[in-house]
Parts: sequence; structure tokens; C-alpha cells
Amino acid sequence: MSDQTKQQAIQALRGMRDFLPKDAVYWTNIEDLFKSWLADYGYQRINLPIIESTKLFLRSLGDATDIVEKEMFTFTDALNGKSVTLRPEGTASCLRAVLEHHLLYNQPTQRLWYYGSMFRHERPQKGRYREFCQMGIEALGMKGPDIDAELILMTQDLWQRLGLQDSIVLQINSIGQPEERKIYRQALISYFEKYQTLLDEDSQQRLKTNPLRILDSKNTTVQKICLQAPRLIDYLDYYSREHYDQWKNMLTALNIPFIENTNLVRGLDYYNLSVFEWVTEALGSQNAICAGGRYDGLTKELGGQPTPTAGFAIGVDRLLLLAIEKGQLSQNQTPDIYLIQKGEGAALYALCIAKQLRQAGFRVLQHAGDAKFSYQFKQANLSQARFAVIVGENEIALNNVTIKPLIDDKTQQTVKQVDMINILQFLTKEIHPDGASLR
Ligand code: HAM
Repeated sequence: MSDQTKQQAIQALRGMRDFLPKDAVYWTNIEDLFKSWLADYGYQRINLPIIESTKLFLRSLGDATDIVEKEMFTFTDALNGKSVTLRPEGTASCLRAVLEHHLLYNQPTQRLWYYGSMFRHERPQKGRYREFCQMGIEALGMKGPDIDAELILMTQDLWQRLGLQDSIVLQINSIGQPEERKIYRQALISYFEKYQTLLDEDSQQRLKTNPLRILDSKNTTVQKICLQAPRLIDYLDYYSREHYDQWKNMLTALNIPFIENTNLVRGLDYYNLSVFEWVTEALGSQNAICAGGRYDGLTKELGGQPTPTAGFAIGVDRLLLLAIEKGQLSQNQTPDIYLIQKGEGAALYALCIAKQLRQAGFRVLQHAGDAKFSYQFKQANLSQARFAVIVGENEIALNNVTIKPLIDDKTQQTVKQVDMINILQFLTKEIHPDGASLR
């Protein structure tokens, strides 16, 4: 190996990120919040593989979608020559698993959630990464529109729990059924063909493959042309309209504000009827925090019995960016007690003390290794612990510990080891007279 090769440090791949402890703590906090929120709505966890057969995504997402056309991490499994793909989203995997394990046979409905990394080969920017995390839920076996309304209600509840209700706005639309979209597609093609020379390259391409996606264009000229384009909503039949009206009436009755965006078509082909996105103005162009809708045709497409289905996925990276920007997530991971130990036998004595303290519910950071008391006190202050519990040779000899508050009153006291927990609990209450814990 040449010297030059030896010196080159290996870095994370583009679009893939490390979260260092000061940031990773936010992930722990939001994951805890997700779990209690999902339990409140009766959702059950499902764990899915990160790699799937490429066929799964080809069959479910749509040939002319950006994801299938250019964003999938696809490669050949060298052992068997089969094409595999790092999952770009979770809905297809979730339905594949449900069908493979016959989850819908004994129970006609399922409320499922999954959480984890998804992979899309996009150009990285703020809020857009090649590896990103989704918290997805899928409600299976329910026709709506009540479940469609519940999906919205529960997401709104989450924004409230995070204090973000004023930063995220709901956009909704109905994209009807495939037959309605077929007729609409033709009308849209005829309309855009009149302006073909004004369309950007991307939209010209989409005119041939997926004209509905032109409505999503970020190009300002194209956006102007879209203003007069035929509206999908005008091509819906009575049943699709009824579904949409009932959904909107429920949202209104639930006091959930929404904007009707007739150009909202979603970037995946499996949707029908209700679609929605929760968007924010705070993150620049990557503004969708959560997106979803109904996809009643997908189980059949994947070889199962037709089953009504709806769901959404939250982009956790974006939600965290927003929550941190708005100062709504705490970073608290401070210990209650820093355990200082020095002298013959002190490390083992301290390990036993720490065990008792943790069993009593305290968070304990024990100093490891030999170091001067002054150094250990510095570390204790840096840790922001409320108390130092000190164990030296004198304490060990008399079965004592010394307790020193590190904040507020700093007077220390040496107490019998058997009284330690009671005294610390008493001191904690003195600091929080209402009985609240240290955290
Ligand atoms: P999606 O709109 O493709 O839908 O993605 C859902 C959310 O994932 C987006 O709103 C965004 O917050 C986040 N997201 C997507 N791509 C990236 C990226 N490159 N970097 C960071 N965040 C990203 C779906 O995936 C559907 N499976 C949702 C669904 C579930 N529909 C029904 N059930």
C-alpha cells in the first residue's frame, strides 16, 4: 500500500449522514414520542427488510415515476444473479409482507407502522438525502373516507404534541380512479401539446410518459401554463366526488384546516381518491414533511385480493429539522448523578453504589479509570449532573458515601450508604417541591 493511499481518510458516501451524539439524542426523543402516539391510535409495528426484489418496486411504484426511472439503488446479487433494490419507500414492502404472511385472512383490517431508512439516488440538499428515514403507517381493509380522516387527525395530533401545528399546512386533493385519470390524461396531453415549445425538457419528457407529473413542475413558465390546465377534479364521477366531499366534510367538522390543491398528484403511481401532503414553508424547496393517501389497487397489483388501503409516511429527517429549528425538541440527556471514585477498592464499591442508584431510578454516570479528584469534579460539572456522589477510601472504610449538590446549594454531606437513596430522593424533592423528578 502506498503512503498516499494510507493517508486518505474514508468518508461517508454522498447523501449518507452520521448523527453524532449531540444530534442523535433528538432521534431518541422523537422515536419515543412516535411510539406512544402510535399506540394511542392502535397501530402495530411491522419490521421489514431493507433490500427487496427489484420486481416489487417495478410492479408497484409505476414505470414512469422519478423513483423507478432514476432514483433506485439497484444492483445484481452476485450469488444468484438476481436484481435487488434498497427500498426507496415502505408501502410496497409492507403490502408484500402482509400478503406473504396472509395477515388479512383472519383479520380483515390491520393498522401497521414501520420505521427506518429508505434510499433514493437524488441530488442531496437541505431536507433531501440519499439515505433518509420514514415513519410510515398503513391502514388496511378500510374503505374510508373515515379512515382517511383519521389519518389526518392523527398527524395533526402529532404536530400538536411537537408544538409544530402552526408550521405545517395540510394540502389535499382527490385523484379519482384509474379510469377517470385515463380520460383526464388525454385531456391534459391535448392541452399541454398546445404549449409544447414552452415546456422545459423535463416536462416535454413527462408529456410522453407521465403528463400528470407536469402539474408538479417547479419551473415557473410551466407553472403558469398549468394554471389554465384542465382539472382532474372535473373528471371525477359521482362516487369519487362523494368520497372526496365526505372526507372534506369530516375534516371541517373536526376543525382541521386544509387547502385544496387540484395540482397535487403525488410522485408514486399507486394512489387513487384521497391524496394529501403536510407541507412547511420553513425548510425551503423540500417542503413536504408527510405525504400519503389511498392506494386501493395495490394489493391486486401485487397478487392479492382487492383490499381498500390507505396510509402515509413522515420524512423524519425533515420533521426533525423543523422541530429543532422551531426549538421544540429537548436535547436533555444529562445524568442525575456523577459518581466520583478514588482509592483502593473504590471502583468496585462505586459500581455497586451505581447499581443501587439506577435501581432506584436515577441516571448515573460513573467515572471510570484512575484520575485526581479535581479532574473528576471537572468532569462532573461538565456532565451537568445535579449531584456528585463521592466514594473515597474513608467512605469505603465506614460504609459511607458523600453527596455533593453540584447546582444550587453546594454543601456536601457524608451519609451512611443504607440511607443514600432516601436522602437523594429527599434532596430531589427539596429542589422540586411538587414531587417532580429531576428530569
Ligand atoms: P413520498 O411522498 O415519496 O411517499 O415520501 C414521504 C415523505 O418522505 C416525504 O413527504 C418526505 O418527507 C420524505 N422524503 C422523501 N424523499 C426524501 C429524501 N430524499 N430525503 C428526505 N426525506 C424524503 C411515500 O414514500 C409513500 N410510501 C407514503 C405512503 C405511505 N403512502 C401511503 N402509505
